[in-house]
Amino acid sequence: MKPFLEVVMTRCSVRRFRPDPVPDDVLAKILEAGIRAPTAGGGEQWFFIVVKDLEKRRAIHRLLLEAHRLYASKVLREPLPVEKLEKWMRRIEEGMYFAPIYIAAYIDLRERLYRDEFYEFEKLMAVQSLAAAIENMLLTAHAMGLGGVWLGVPLLLREKFDEVLEPPPGCELQALIALGYPAEEVGPRKRRKDLSKVVKMI
Ligand SMILES: Cc1cc2nc3c(=O)[nH]c(=O)nc-3n(C[C@H](O)[C@H](O)[C@H](O)COP(=O)(O)O)c2cc1C
Repeated sequence: MKPFLEVVMTRCSVRRFRPDPVPDDVLAKILEAGIRAPTAGGGEQWFFIVVKDLEKRRAIHRLLLEAHRLYASKVLREPLPVEKLEKWMRRIEEGMYFAPIYIAAYIDLRERLYRDEFYEFEKLMAVQSLAAAIENMLLTAHAMGLGGVWLGVPLLLREKFDEVLEPPPGCELQALIALGYPAEEVGPRKRRKDLSKVVKMI
């Protein structure tokens, strides 16, 4: 296995996957790594739905196309020009984001830790804990030769995704992870801002 820092520095979003299934023991390791994340108040207020079923995955993929179209045409302050949008949609139709596994990441506030007047605080803590779990899973997947992408656009169509995913009542979708063996080259592509622009030392 790669040294930890190499895993962190070489992870990147993977959006095209080979059809090969993810073995159950590999999937279990990824999920175990997820729930080892720090969790506010020790609350573990998260719930994960793992989607393997082909029909469900097809339904999710169709919704991902719809959600990305909405994002690119209605959500962005500067919507994508039509040709770019249609090119992206075509790529999705051709299989981009279609994964052998989806992990839907929910916050689960059925067991409450804090007083009612601190509900927003509790929710924020649960969302942040879940985000840590998602990153743990993505890093573990990458360390084991898989790839994945964190998908936020499903939140634009929460109800439609929930119809497919059928979460327990009281759970709220926060992200979807598409996971599988990469069908594209893996390596850090996106440049980041210079540290001096995002860090202030005092
Ligand atoms: C909260 C969050 C939501 C994201 N949502 C999407 C998404 O809906 N679709 C997508 O293609 N990528 C999504 N991404 C992936 C980002 O586009 C990606 O992380 C960013 O471009 C940096 O690239 P890298 O992950 O390869 O370093 C999301 C990432 C985060 C953290």
